Amino acid sequence: MRQSLLALALLVAACGDDAPPRTATPAGPPAGFGRVEWGELLFETHGCMACHRIDGVSSVGPPLDEIVGTSRLTDEGRRVPVDADYLEESLLEPELVALPGYEKVMPGYGELLEPVEIDAIVGYLTTLTRNPH
Ligand code: HEC
Repeated sequence: MRQSLLALALLVAACGDDAPPRTATPAGPPAGFGRVEWGELLFETHGCMACHRIDGVSSVGPPLDEIVGTSRLTDEGRRVPVDADYLEESLLEPELVALPGYEKVMPGYGELLEPVEIDAIVGYLTTLTRNPH
């Protein structure tokens, strides 16, 4: 599944060579893709995997599986739950996330992804928690 999604993404990327980057991104999921599958595709094609693993192992960034239902401390010392809102905010404004042991190197995706794409990624990330806390 993952392989074929990647192949499809590469195909789409290859076809979109002449288009400016902003419009090269389709406004909606490829045919037959639901929100979660689209989110997975976006996760794989927008560099997230360069810094995040989804098997509980730390990389440049923290692993993103099994995190929904836990909580985080913000820079100002506020405790917030890891839920859909938190996931969305950590994509738009990662500088607000403060995780001990990690460098603040994650780019903000507000300029790079459409809101509907952010939503799809959040949908996908939510499915990575199989044992809600
Ligand atoms: C250059 C490396 C890098 C890339 C690329 C990157 N991240 Fe991150 N991400 C990080 C780091 C480092 C942190 C921890 C930030 C901190 O402590 O301030 C983080 C934090 C997060 C968090 C909060 C995790 C938690 O446990 O609280 C989420 C969610 C997240 N990233 C999702 C994504 C997604 C989705 C993408 C792709 C669209 C992405 N990241 C791309 C490095 C990266």
